Amino acid sequence: MLEKYGHGGDLLTAAELYGGNSGGFVDFSANINPLGPPPGVLALLRDAVTAITAYPDPGHRRLKALLAEELGVGPDWITVANGAAESMALLLLAVAPRRVGIVEPCFSEYRQLAEQFGAEVLSVQGTSGKDYRASVEAISGLLEQTDLLFLGQPNNPNGVQYPLDELRFLARKAEACGTVLAVDEAFIDFIPEADRISLLPELGAYRHAVLVRSMTKFFAIPGLRLGFTAASPELAAAMSGKQVTWSVNGLALLAGEACLQSGDGYGQETRALIAAERQRLRRGLLELGCGVPPGEANFLLLRLPAPWTAAAVQERLGRRGILVRSCAMYPGLTPGHIRVAVKGGADNSRLLVELGAILQARV
Ligand SMILES: Cc1ncc(COP(=O)(O)O)c(C=O)c1O
Repeated sequence: MLEKYGHGGDLLTAAELYGGNSGGFVDFSANINPLGPPPGVLALLRDAVTAITAYPDPGHRRLKALLAEELGVGPDWITVANGAAESMALLLLAVAPRRVGIVEPCFSEYRQLAEQFGAEVLSVQGTSGKDYRASVEAISGLLEQTDLLFLGQPNNPNGVQYPLDELRFLARKAEACGTVLAVDEAFIDFIPEADRISLLPELGAYRHAVLVRSMTKFFAIPGLRLGFTAASPELAAAMSGKQVTWSVNGLALLAGEACLQSGDGYGQETRALIAAERQRLRRGLLELGCGVPPGEANFLLLRLPAPWTAAAVQERLGRRGILVRSCAMYPGLTPGHIRVAVKGGADNSRLLVELGAILQARV
């Protein structure tokens, strides 16, 4: 199985399974900005490589200041981490929840990390008629039963977003229950006018809300690892108090600073490309007979036409040098579900051609 470690983007396993060179695949299984890092960032990293001879700033002060300015919060609200994945681990360590709530289908690390840290996981599930979206009432009920709840905004793998009034309702409910509501905004930068679906502008009103963000997807640096959270200073201090000193390396800090200073042109170009290509890719997938909820993020969840299974299509695409994420193992989804990233035009066209050939061949 390609998802040997539970995730997409595993090029080494792909080479073992399908042959060839791990660098030779077109990877739709991880949702990374097809433009690559902002202009100048790779060159800066090449020039700055000697920075590895010094320890990184354990307080992440420069990056924290830039993030605080960008988000409009005080630096004491920010906790920088070695990817959003580390942010989630820090949250679990800081909150030490007995029970963690998750809303299936969702990013598999929510459950995996919660169990690694010894919590019991309770879940509610989205319904197929609603693009696998769970009702706000069900999530609210889960908040009552748990100490920490993870919610994707937009959610991976179905791309659904909760309207701001629903999020606000959940954040107020979390305050009332004393439950920490972790809103995972790892993909929010890909969404135009993200403020309309983020609690960020009103974060100051909540002591129990945490926004988890990733810099690895939007800025295309997943191998470098960088993420952060915005949360009340008390929660932020509790999280950084659990962090291993120097867990964020010096090159990641430099890259993060450069990404934030690269200007908004790159962001606008990314969002325009993703919006146009998502529509085109979705249209093509629908024409091939797939079921594809619209989504708004840089990935699409699709249901293959019967009797195709994710396993069969993933294998056939893999042998043609294309990687997709099977979603057959997500609770609530079916053996026919896969997720594909929205990439650049040429790659998306290639996916449509290769998938079309496979589905037509019926072999
Ligand atoms: C929903 C979601 N949140 C967080 C992460 C982790 O991001 P990072 O690379 O910053 O650790 C991922 C990675 O796939 C993800 O899909």
